[in-house]
Amino acid sequence: MVKICCIGAGYVGGPTMAVIAIKCPAIEVVVVDISKPRIDAWNSDTLPIYEPGLDDVVKACRGKNLFFSTDVEKHVAEADIIFVSVNTPTKTRGLGAGKAADLTYWESAARMIADVSKSDKIVVEKSTVPVKTAEAIEKILTHNSKGINYQILSNPEFLAEGTAIEDLFKPDRVLIGGRETPGGQKAVQALKEVYAHWVPEENIITTNLWSAELSKLAANAFLAQRISSVNAMSALCEATGANVSEVSYAIGKDSRIGPKFLNASVGFGGSCFQKDILNLVYICECNGLPEVANYWKQVIKINDYQKSRFVNRVVSSMFNTVSGKKIAVLGFAFKKDTGDTRETPAIDVCKGLVGDKAQVSIYDPQVTEDQIQRDLAMNKFDWDHPMHLQPTSPTAVKQKLDYQKIFDNMQKPAFVFDGRNVVDAEKLREIGFIVYSIGKPLDGWLKDMPAVA
Ligand code: UDX
Ligand code: UDX
Ligand code: ADP
Repeated sequence: MVKICCIGAGYVGGPTMAVIAIKCPAIEVVVVDISKPRIDAWNSDTLPIYEPGLDDVVKACRGKNLFFSTDVEKHVAEADIIFVSVNTPTKTRGLGAGKAADLTYWESAARMIADVSKSDKIVVEKSTVPVKTAEAIEKILTHNSKGINYQILSNPEFLAEGTAIEDLFKPDRVLIGGRETPGGQKAVQALKEVYAHWVPEENIITTNLWSAELSKLAANAFLAQRISSVNAMSALCEATGANVSEVSYAIGKDSRIGPKFLNASVGFGGSCFQKDILNLVYICECNGLPEVANYWKQVIKINDYQKSRFVNRVVSSMFNTVSGKKIAVLGFAFKKDTGDTRETPAIDVCKGLVGDKAQVSIYDPQVTEDQIQRDLAMNKFDWDHPMHLQPTSPTAVKQKLDYQKIFDNMQKPAFVFDGRNVVDAEKLREIGFIVYSIGKPLDGWLKDMPAVA
């Protein structure tokens, strides 16, 4: 029986291993983590993360061939294949601060593997890491090998939050990078056999180590670039009277462009896009490629511009001040179907509004008030003004909103600013709202109050 151990029971490790377990009943999968509360949660009825379908998968195999444990060393020692799925945040201090990936957790995991291993291991990079991390890990392992053979593979995960289980069941592709040596190729085959339990062979791509590592950064950079491109167009649409949804649809019909990831928004968020692009930029700079670095930096600049443009639109529409004005923010996570708030554009938008002294009430059915308070307290900048955060009131905005009632209770003129183009703007206008939708032709009121970006 093949034994798999995954270090790191987070957003990536947890769902990925649960799916391997359910698809491969003959493989024992143990997910380990240094955080006891996390492991306890994985072993309880309330899993630490929310993903549609995840509960069912975990329940079906937990205790059979899927286990969650804090006994990291024991399970690493027993495993044939070790996935490393620890967090790799952006460095906040020292060399490369604000750009480079912080590999502290990775390095300590690698050293621990070297310490406890007594048999040959395949070590799989699962978390997104800078190109050539595999080489560094290989050095740590081989310099401490005690005669044990280690093969390092890069097997980046492409799942998106909110659709993790669906993405894992039916991945567009599985990517495995390994050394071009006989030992390396054997390891690639061994991992390929795991995925071949449910992924068609033609969708399992094998490459060299560095192509696999770079492909993950490149994929996220390309996806984010599409959003920044369409968001840049949304500003031009508002200025010209074009409708960004019509433009997206029209260009997406070109099969060379394709329809996905062309929704204009208040900006992309999530734990990956910004972090991976910053990382890509850093790698380019380190390799003496400033032109390439600047090209990708622009994707983040447009994203920041889009968030501040939204705030400016809100403020300028209300006579250039929101001081003391009550603003309800519906939704705080970085996208629907998740409670994850990492890098959510809502943080910048709320901070911007509070910075202009608005009274902001925030509600998201998946995010606790505590989490929202923590996110807004984390200082990217120093705010001159104290926060005026009201306690959220879930009852006020549950499920379907009665916009007529909301309108009746609001001061006039009443505004709706839609950062996701999800409301029925025409219906709201009939009720009497002034509605702003990103990249759509502007109401007369908004045209008369131009936002300065
Ligand atoms: C282009 C558009 O494709 C077409 O829709 C529009 O109406 C006119 O402009 P065209 O200029 O004829 O058409 O050629 P195209 O095949 O798009 O190639 C343009 C340039 O891009 C060429 O120099 C081509 O070699 C280059 N190219 C294309 C690449 O370098 N890499 C690619 O992957 C594709
Ligand atoms: C992303 C990648 O999709 C995934 O392949 C990778 O493994 C991790 O990073 P994720 O961050 O979970 O996944 O979410 P994604 O659905 O890609 O959305 C990212 C952000 O872009 C969200 O804030 C979303 O709202 C925004 N977005 C997405 C848009 O603004 N417009 C779009 O058209 C699509
Ligand atoms: P991702 O989104 O990449 O999955 P997360 O932050 O959700 O990242 O999860 C990473 C997990 O890795 C955390 O639960 C953290 O406690 C765990 N972790 C970090 N370092 C180690 C380590 N050396 N050994 C075991 N677990 C670790």
